Amino acid sequence: VLDPERLSEAETLAKTLRLPLFEDARPQGFSHALALTPQRLELRTIGTRPPGPVTAELRDEDIRRRIRSGRRQPLARACGLHRDTGLRILDATAGLGRDGIVLAGLGCKVTLLERSPVIAALLRDGLARAAADAAFSSWLPQRVELLEEDAIAYMHSVARGHDVVYLDPMYPERGKHALAKKEMRTLRAVVGEDADAARLLEVALTYAARRVVVKRPPRGETLGGSSPDHQLSGNRARYDVYFTRKGLPAQ
Ligand SMILES: C[S@@+](CC[C@H](N)C(=O)[O-])C[C@H]1O[C@@H](n2cnc3c(N)ncnc32)[C@H](O)[C@@H]1O
Repeated sequence: VLDPERLSEAETLAKTLRLPLFEDARPQGFSHALALTPQRLELRTIGTRPPGPVTAELRDEDIRRRIRSGRRQPLARACGLHRDTGLRILDATAGLGRDGIVLAGLGCKVTLLERSPVIAALLRDGLARAAADAAFSSWLPQRVELLEEDAIAYMHSVARGHDVVYLDPMYPERGKHALAKKEMRTLRAVVGEDADAARLLEVALTYAARRVVVKRPPRGETLGGSSPDHQLSGNRARYDVYFTRKGLPAQ
């Protein structure tokens, strides 16, 4: 905790996450620390020459540009937004919430699921800060909910309620040149490899009312055993689309 005024908030967070609390910015003997600053919650790597902190910053220009790009961008088309408005989307691997908030900004109702308590805490903080921003406050609280839960358990426990399930599990470890940005490396150090991603797709295929969309590296392998019905390529990623209500026109 780096802000004395937020001490009680930090105490509650440490208790919930069952983490020790320090008032020192660089406690000894740990690889990572959550830091509650006056502005935000940050995940920091501890060490010599660490990468910058990871936060859920949902108000940045990249997100605003992606929302402005509209319903014909690859992510939106993959989810079927160019055909239907007001879709209900289950973002089953929410992470830092970037794809989810773009989909909400384009008019969808989005349920964000994140099973890592640390990542969920970062995302909760990012959503609260975005909800207080004039550019987001008119739609974000009504369209976005965050649940700290495992998506496989969630889909087993609730009746079908979502048109689309969106999956973006951790990519397999790649070479130095790949998109494995510093942020993703820090995330991977905290949440691991998402080794159950193929099972997640299987369950999603039985749950989604209309389609499942899986984000993959541009030239990455498909996830699990079944081949997608359709693929869309963007600059940074490929989207594999699986229709669950067969007979829909491809696209
Ligand atoms: C690559 S990140 C997602 C990034 C996100 N699409 C974004 O735009 O910020 C993957 C996240 O999915 C979460 N995750 C993976 N499998 C999950 C599951 N079965 N249930 C809930 N969360 C899961 C991981 O903990 C990780 O935070």
